[in-house]
Amino acid sequence: MAQIIDGKAVSASVRERIAKETAEFAKETGVIPGLAVIIVGENPASQVYVRNKHKACQDVGMHSVVIEMPENTTQEQLLEKVDELAKDNAIHGILVQLPLPAHIDEEEVIKAIPPEKDVDAFHPANVGRIMIGNQSFVPCTPAGVMELLDAYDIEIEGKNCVIIGRSNIVGKPQAMLMLQKNATVTICHSRTKNLAEVTSKADILVAAVGRSKFVTADMVKEGAVVIDVGINRGEDGKLCGDVDYDAVFDKVSYITPVPGGVGPMTITMLLKNTLTAAKDSVR
Ligand code: GUN
Repeated sequence: MAQIIDGKAVSASVRERIAKETAEFAKETGVIPGLAVIIVGENPASQVYVRNKHKACQDVGMHSVVIEMPENTTQEQLLEKVDELAKDNAIHGILVQLPLPAHIDEEEVIKAIPPEKDVDAFHPANVGRIMIGNQSFVPCTPAGVMELLDAYDIEIEGKNCVIIGRSNIVGKPQAMLMLQKNATVTICHSRTKNLAEVTSKADILVAAVGRSKFVTADMVKEGAVVIDVGINRGEDGKLCGDVDYDAVFDKVSYITPVPGGVGPMTITMLLKNTLTAAKDSVR
């Protein structure tokens, strides 16, 4: 039977620590860490995420600005706004909520964020730093996974870590972070042959596929640690992960539930990156 990795509890305790550090930093320097989030259009899921980010900032005593721009915003207008925030000394982190409307070039927008304010760590300069291993910021989802493993004292060094999914936001940076901790890392994807054979060798399996209940019991090793990054809507309309939780539960040693696993950690890691950005700005 598995031990459930409680992302809500870990998240609450990390946020408490961040709130304390934010207050100490503000007292020492007079600087209140500030995050600006830009949302373009009216994607309902994005609106929920942005609202949650705003509230989370306020809860830990950070300055938070949400900039809502209409769906028909031009690339030029968006770049102007990013530039304005880049120059704003009260703002230490800039996040442009993705996805952007189809007429906007996401890559150009990400590149317009100064790397030292890029709290998503999506800018090529920050991606490169993760590759080298001297990063200030880590993308929020893989950072959250690492924080969970650490909170449960799950050893990474020397382990077989298998990641299903090769996205720039999760799979690739997750692999780099695990490699930095001296794991043997394998990245699997839609063209991987004999997927179950590869995943069933994992001591730590990270599922970031975006398909409901994709990981079945035959794909996991007895006693493995299973981290589920997926957030999907099941056929019953309920949220579910990439892992068939009930089927896998009795076979593994640790597992993250969905919801309540990795999800709560992502905004917490954004707060951590914003505090880091503010601290780096006064160095
Ligand atoms: N949309 C979904 N996840 C994310 C994220 O981590 N950062 C940004 N900017 N947009 C997102």
